[in-house]
Amino acid sequence: MIEAAFHFPNGFLWGTATSSHQVEGGNRLNDWWAWEGQPGRILRGDRSGLACDWWGGRWKEDLDRAAAGGQTAHRLSVEWSRIEPEPGRWDPHALDFYREVLSGMHARGIEPMVTLHHFTNPFWLAEQGGWENENVVARFETFTRKTVAVLKDLTDFWCTINEPNIYIYLAYSTGDFPPGKKDIRAAFRVMRNQIFAHAAAYYAIHEIQPEARVGIAIQYRPLIPHTANPLDGVVARIQSRISNDLFPRALQDGRLRFPLRREHAAKVAHTQDYLGLNYYSCDHVSFDLSKAGELFGRRFYPEGADLSDIGWNANIPEGMARAIRWANTFGLPIYITENGIEDETDRIRPRYLVQHLHQAWKAANTGVPIRGYFHWSLVDNFEWERGWTQRFGLWALNPETQQRTERPSARLYAEICRENGITSDMVRRFAPEVFPVLFPG
Ligand code: FCB
Repeated sequence: MIEAAFHFPNGFLWGTATSSHQVEGGNRLNDWWAWEGQPGRILRGDRSGLACDWWGGRWKEDLDRAAAGGQTAHRLSVEWSRIEPEPGRWDPHALDFYREVLSGMHARGIEPMVTLHHFTNPFWLAEQGGWENENVVARFETFTRKTVAVLKDLTDFWCTINEPNIYIYLAYSTGDFPPGKKDIRAAFRVMRNQIFAHAAAYYAIHEIQPEARVGIAIQYRPLIPHTANPLDGVVARIQSRISNDLFPRALQDGRLRFPLRREHAAKVAHTQDYLGLNYYSCDHVSFDLSKAGELFGRRFYPEGADLSDIGWNANIPEGMARAIRWANTFGLPIYITENGIEDETDRIRPRYLVQHLHQAWKAANTGVPIRGYFHWSLVDNFEWERGWTQRFGLWALNPETQQRTERPSARLYAEICRENGITSDMVRRFAPEVFPVLFPG
């Protein structure tokens, strides 16, 4: 039988992504640990607990699996509350831990990308008003300088802040993340502080390490007007400008386009060396007078969408194509820094994986500078306010016994990484239901 294949450019990075609080376990010194202890905050009352026990050393076995599966990169985050447990006090043990993990990655042929802020804050910072307090800009810069100075011989690949748009939305608009506020003014204050903190970190990193590659990871969620009604179009556009564009555009041209106030800050312009794109799904939007808090736009998945177990993600690969087109308007190298689906039984993940990668392949082969892909995630981990109800891992985890079980997607992804591409044979074996979509005729 004639085989077809979609190959990626040489040197394309193949990896997975994780974050400190979600995999390390025992992160008692951050705002999330306290939040998890409050009744009603996390589904079923779940706790991060030991998480994947990376702090206890199980990062070794998980990275062994990643390396055996042909992965060449891994995106992880460092935990600010461990590195700086009290203001100005640095814990050498924590810094040694991250040195050991990064060295362990190199020993396995895995290139690290290090995120400095992935949703969690030291408890002391939260008590000082967290990201609402302007002092956070200097605090974050100091933390960045310390961390980069210690780790600079082990990586030059930095992501300052993970998904500022999602963090701000959940922590200051829906109240699902600590500090649990529903306060639009606070949300814009936090956004401003995060923009300035990113820029300060950008310059600090380049001062210490001129060759560094520094960016953010933004979650781009295409928002599609549900009908031709112009009002659907207007609310979709406004929501998208605020949630998708405001932050990364400010880092591009220094213009902070808040809804009621504009600001120009030359020093935040041109502070991204690459665009980190997280894509999960897209929403339809329709004008709805009852949704004042969401700028009169109701968001939902289209009827008949290919939904994950509890309906949290829809498999919409065309959204990946849109997201990449959007990312390409920044004129920077692009890394897909997260993409994945919650799916305990691996019912939908194989097709989600090949269909999304197929879109990335199409873009990469028509000249879009996509340089790598990090699947979320390597192993099931603690999914924030959804606790352990969602399973994103290529490997399943039983958090009680710490036992890992390979899902078929782990084998599929390993084949993709080793091949540097997707073949018709892989699709036939792992996701036959989409074979005619990927290989028509
Ligand atoms: C992203 C987060 C990541 C993980 C995935 C499922 O928004 O960056 O930590 O929770 O969603």
